[in-house]
Amino acid sequence: MNPTALFLGTAMWAWTVEKAQAFQLLDDFYAAGYRQIDAATNYPINKNSADFRAAEKILFEWIKVHGISDLKVLMKVGSINNLYTPEHNLSPSFLHIMHNEYQNLLDNQLDEFMIHWDNRDDIQLIRASLEALNHIRQQGVKIGLSGIKHPEHYAQLNRDFGFDFDIQFKHNLLYSDYERYSDFQGKPRFLAYGMNAGGLKFKAKQYHANSSTTVRGVSADQHQGFLNQVEECLTKYNQASELPPLSRFNQCSMVFAYYSPDIKGLLIGPSSTEQLKDSIHFFQGLEKGHHRALYNALRQLQENG
Ligand SMILES: NC(=O)c1ccc[n+]([C@@H]2O[C@H](COP(=O)([O-])OP(=O)(O)OC[C@H]3O[C@@H](n4cnc5c(N)ncnc54)[C@H](OP(=O)(O)O)[C@@H]3O)[C@@H](O)[C@H]2O)c1
Repeated sequence: MNPTALFLGTAMWAWTVEKAQAFQLLDDFYAAGYRQIDAATNYPINKNSADFRAAEKILFEWIKVHGISDLKVLMKVGSINNLYTPEHNLSPSFLHIMHNEYQNLLDNQLDEFMIHWDNRDDIQLIRASLEALNHIRQQGVKIGLSGIKHPEHYAQLNRDFGFDFDIQFKHNLLYSDYERYSDFQGKPRFLAYGMNAGGLKFKAKQYHANSSTTVRGVSADQHQGFLNQVEECLTKYNQASELPPLSRFNQCSMVFAYYSPDIKGLLIGPSSTEQLKDSIHFFQGLEKGHHRALYNALRQLQENG
């Protein structure tokens, strides 16, 4: 079985993560030997139209400045603005335009081309998109899905196309889209995002002025009861474990996602160099099999909650 992939997320770049910090994150991620980057046309989704495509511009600039030629970029397409509205364009012509655009910008570093949100309930329109993606696949790019309202239509049509889709799905201790994609279960194809539910922490004092939860409008108070239960679970685990004690919600989030069924990769969204190094170090421990017992305890907590 292939090792679990680690992707560097870019959703907060040009929002809470300024260009210089994003450059540093890329420097450190690359130096640590990782190559997979998750991007989207509409990042950052900060509802400021002047920032449409600003996150990917930082990535392209870093690639150019450093003369990088071996990244593996997963590019999500379809949205036509960064205003957090459901408008999207998945017509065959638009998909081809976007593919050409990213092929020109990234050349062989465009590794995967992913549909980003599809609310359509029209099987013929979805078929037309898949026909376009079929042509794109033939040019050597992997094809993936994210934010699909009717996965059952994709599953049905895929009997004709035979795509081996990767699927990005929201997956954390509070919420998971895994069951919605039941037609695609049974194989490691799932890439987990939102592992920290948008940046939750155990304690109020751990948030900072530019916290991800604040700018995204995530209410930490609403989840405090559950966070306390997770922390209690962690305390019990630490007492029984011979490994150095864990202390942060992010560690529980990564354990939970890493050991979940059908996981192919984790998408991390660090907002500082310290968080990046911490997440990489922790991920490498998980690759050695650390903290599986914590996963079992968290799963039980989640099922009871
Ligand atoms: N397909 C989709 O629809 C979709 C949707 C969302 C995201 N994504 C992708 O997935 C990536 C990650 O998503 P996300 O930002 O929602 O993930 P997340 O893990 O739920 O939230 C990221 C936040 O968690 C905190 N954090 C991260 N690493 C930490 C660490 N080591 N220690 C302590 N706190 C840490 C930071 O909050 P603070 O900054 O407040 O410290 C960070 O901004 C995105 O960048 C994007 O590429 C895809």
